[in-house]
Amino acid sequence: MKVRVGVNGYGTIGKRVAYAVSKQDDMKLIGVTKTKPDFEAYRAKALGISVYAASADFLPRFEKVDFEVAGTLSDLLEKVDVIVDATPGGMGAKNKALYEKAGVKAVFEGGENASTAQVSFVAQANYEKALGKDYVRVVSCNTTGLSRTLSALQDYIDYVYAVMIRRAADPNDSKRGPVNAITPSVTVPSHHGPDVQTVIPINIETSAFIVPTTLMHVHSIMIELKKPVTEKDVIEVFENTTRVLLFEKEKGFEGTAQLIEFARDLHREWNNLYEIAVWRESISVKGNRLFYIQAVHQESDVVPENIDAIRAMFEMSDKWESIRKTNRSLGILK
Ligand SMILES: NC(=O)c1ccc[n+]([C@@H]2O[C@H](COP(=O)([O-])OP(=O)(O)OC[C@H]3O[C@@H](n4cnc5c(N)ncnc54)[C@H](OP(=O)(O)O)[C@@H]3O)[C@@H](O)[C@H]2O)c1
Repeated sequence: MKVRVGVNGYGTIGKRVAYAVSKQDDMKLIGVTKTKPDFEAYRAKALGISVYAASADFLPRFEKVDFEVAGTLSDLLEKVDVIVDATPGGMGAKNKALYEKAGVKAVFEGGENASTAQVSFVAQANYEKALGKDYVRVVSCNTTGLSRTLSALQDYIDYVYAVMIRRAADPNDSKRGPVNAITPSVTVPSHHGPDVQTVIPINIETSAFIVPTTLMHVHSIMIELKKPVTEKDVIEVFENTTRVLLFEKEKGFEGTAQLIEFARDLHREWNNLYEIAVWRESISVKGNRLFYIQAVHQESDVVPENIDAIRAMFEMSDKWESIRKTNRSLGILK
């Protein structure tokens, strides 16, 4: 029996999750919702995906251009076992009542508060906590990136200080900025540190800056160590950590532009770089402090987590079986 999955909100995250669901042999994509019949709705239809109106209020938009929808969100909810809510941040919490009424499990995304779900999820850090749960939140792209590398180093961590250099907008977004400024998050800590603590119990403080780029986020991480570690040990830890890859400046990875080119060279759909990229040369131990720099492809690192969350919620696989299955299906390198 395949788990029947719907996706509410077919935007940056929703379309990638829908694609990933369609690559699983134990899941079936039933349909996606749109608020309007734009090019993304036509493309979904061309791919054979059933498109539903996000609510009855949006139906006139589709009727006006004779775009035939398969129904509304309520109809979709009758046909699925789980809905992935990839609507804009904050909307998922409002939609939760609809999912509860329909008796459908739900995966929420990082734009929702942790309290919206029973568990905040990063597969390699806390898969087991989502087993059998009805409401799971896949944390944000930044929190996923921090949790992947920090959970691998957890035994060594006394305190983490991390600076987030955040992309201003996704590449398809022509409205957000800044176009010509660096905008600090004026509250310290930024929300990222507390968000990591919803996944792994560590001491962490973060600050954040938004910069005019669309490609990726970059994190500069400093860890005060509670026991000694060498650079070689850390490299070995990351070499053995799933969904984390080491890149070398010496081989041409000067910045995020080359990382995205690497994903393009892999012929990844939408240039997805599901893995967190750590610069090997940045791994540095000075006394009881460890430093490293990593990059996060905000549009795609959370996608495999959505798939693993569904498997955990339906207790379909154990942690490593799910992670390996998801990795294989999406061509994740390790
Ligand atoms: N983008 C990222 O970098 C990123 C990374 C990790 C997590 N997240 C989280 O993922 C979630 C989705 O973000 P996103 O970037 O994918 O957003 P997005 O690109 O703006 O897509 C949001 C989708 O929700 C739909 N939508 C808008 N209003 C709706 C409504 N009233 N009811 C139902 N659907 C509605 C939109 O449909 P129409 O296009 O038809 O209007 C659109 O397809 C958020 O929680 C966000 O914080 C985002």
